[in-house]
Amino acid sequence: MRVGLAYNVKPADHPPHLPADAFEEYDSEATVGHLCDALVSLGHEVSRLGAGPGIIGALRENRPDIVFNIAEGEGGRCREAHVPALLEMLGIPYLGSDPLTLCVTLDKAMAKRVVSTEGFPTPKFRTFRSEAEVDDPGLAYPVIVKPAFEGSSKGVRLASRATSLPEVRSMVSFVTGRYHQDALVEEFIAGPEVTVGLVGNGVPRVVGVMEIVPKTVPHEEFVYSLEVKRDWENQVEYRCPPSFPAETVAEIERCAVGIYRLLGCRDFSRIDFRLDGNRVPQFIECNPLPGLSPGYGDLPIMAGKMGIPYTGLISEILSHALTRLGLKDR
Ligand SMILES: Nc1ncnc2c1ncn2[C@@H]1O[C@H](COP(=O)(O)OP(=O)(O)OP(=O)(O)O)[C@@H](O)[C@H]1O
Ligand SMILES: [Mg+2]
Repeated sequence: MRVGLAYNVKPADHPPHLPADAFEEYDSEATVGHLCDALVSLGHEVSRLGAGPGIIGALRENRPDIVFNIAEGEGGRCREAHVPALLEMLGIPYLGSDPLTLCVTLDKAMAKRVVSTEGFPTPKFRTFRSEAEVDDPGLAYPVIVKPAFEGSSKGVRLASRATSLPEVRSMVSFVTGRYHQDALVEEFIAGPEVTVGLVGNGVPRVVGVMEIVPKTVPHEEFVYSLEVKRDWENQVEYRCPPSFPAETVAEIERCAVGIYRLLGCRDFSRIDFRLDGNRVPQFIECNPLPGLSPGYGDLPIMAGKMGIPYTGLISEILSHALTRLGLKDR
């Protein structure tokens, strides 16, 4: 098949006035290359589409049978929906979740509201538009302060865990001032952290439940922050399957599958939780565009630990999309 790849890559030169993690969600050229290689090895012809306005011309010139979309888009809480919305307008089938799911999940407060209405536990939260707006959030300390519409730990630092009102003010100022968006302040869940990889449609298949075990701090203080993700070899150990009792794993899987379906995820996603004092999985966020960098992205890492090589993972995700779209036998 002719597969078009929609993606954003980090710019070669980082503009000095922007935060160091301004393009953290974007892929590296290496990741795009690995994904292309995997698709070619599966027998497909791959065209690189990029993601900005230039994608319109690229699609007209060389209309693919399907677009493999990993584009994060540019600016605002609807940025991940730009490419899928365009593809829907042009009638081009694409892999992954639709614009509504991508928008709702990128806005973490919105996702938490939806998830909690169906009874899935998620930490209590407030949002603030500026430091001046911050009053006593009425939440139990510690809390975490993070950008409301980002991923890849963009804007999340070790200092994002705040234990007092002055610390909250300072981190709300950091988020709103440097990332130009609302700050989400939510109760900090101090137990173990897990991320769950899922693929498929209808009832998705759980690829793995992976525990992120901090190596240098107790999990009461652990934040899977930018500093940690950039130095993950020294900072964390990945345990997949995790070291929890079977009933805890079963409850994590039940929540992950339920939330995947509730949010309308398609083909693949990764959902993050932390366990509270009663080992109840508390929903942190859902990533319908999880990183696919081999050896760095949590989903490829967990697939590898479950015995699925990188190309096998990409093949399975594509196969689910083709079945969903009725393109399987072409
Ligand atoms: N309520 C919370 N309680 C405890 N830790 C939290 C909470 N919210 C976030 N964290 C910590 O901060 C990290 C980053 O938060 P979150 O997953 O929301 O950000 P992200 O940038 O979207 O992540 P990703 O890289 O998965 O896209 C989490 O992995 C977790 O370690
Ligand atoms: Mg996360």
